Amino acid sequence: MTKRILITRQFPIVGAELLGSQGYELTQWAEDRPMTYDELLEAAKDKHAIYCTLTDKIDKNLIDACTDLEVISQFAVGFDNIDISAATKRGIPVGYTPDVLSGATADIAFLLLLATSRKLSFLQNTISKGEWQYFRPNLYLGQELNNKTLGVFGLGRIGIEMAKRCKGAYNMDIIYHNRNRNPKAEKELGAQYVDFNTLLNKSDVVSVHCALTEDTKEIFNKTAFNKMKSDAIFINTARGMVHNETDLIEALQNKCIWGAGLDVTNPEPMLPDNPLLTMENVTVMPHVGSGTVETRGKMAEMTANNIIEFYNTGKMPHCVNIEVF
Ligand code: GLV
Repeated sequence: MTKRILITRQFPIVGAELLGSQGYELTQWAEDRPMTYDELLEAAKDKHAIYCTLTDKIDKNLIDACTDLEVISQFAVGFDNIDISAATKRGIPVGYTPDVLSGATADIAFLLLLATSRKLSFLQNTISKGEWQYFRPNLYLGQELNNKTLGVFGLGRIGIEMAKRCKGAYNMDIIYHNRNRNPKAEKELGAQYVDFNTLLNKSDVVSVHCALTEDTKEIFNKTAFNKMKSDAIFINTARGMVHNETDLIEALQNKCIWGAGLDVTNPEPMLPDNPLLTMENVTVMPHVGSGTVETRGKMAEMTANNIIEFYNTGKMPHCVNIEVF
């Protein structure tokens, strides 16, 4: 029987081309915006496969309603939008796109660190407002990063790439906190495992690279920010819900920490009147960590191949819930 596949967004075309070459029947959402939950439910209910991304809520209700569903393939490394346990109970494998986006995402973390430490966004805005009048020896002073301590929260594939950049460019010491120790990173980067409190107390830069789970949800809150150094920079390129944004705003306003660089916000999208956008030591980007032509193309290929391999071989190369096999 011809497999019916829902493609929930306008992804790089290579993914749809690969799926089309297998003779599947493709239905692709034509609009630029994500589908609403009801639109997704309606479009998915008679499909065998869903090719989706982080803006699509694939919950138990939707999985139960899609009685023909055999496979879900996510165009992202994070999959907190999908109820994995409901998919697993139905024996549905969930694909994702690890590794290919680690370099691009770490570049954004590193960019946010540099941009924040030298007030890039704020200073560009001062020029737009006509406030660049003359050279000012004592104004707009940033921070240097040489020999500082980077604290990585979640030293997985992306965290390691960020650590490499910080060590290579600024000889930064690397400390990290994880669910599990990472002996390879300890050896290669001289990274030192520390408990969460030590990470907060000792880091000049805290960079978040963990998955969003019940354990990490808003773990960066008032209590955590209060334990950080007053000249510390907080970077989050993982998921916005790992930090409490009201507490982050307060921590910056009270000079409890020095600056923040965010590629992810809580909630998303960030509203234009958010006070973070006018703060001197803050840089915000609209969740574009993997956003390069090369990386997004590889992600589209991988998302399609997870479906194709599943149908052709009964296995999936990059699967979140391998226990279904
Ligand atoms: C992006 O946020 C991803 O999870 O790939």
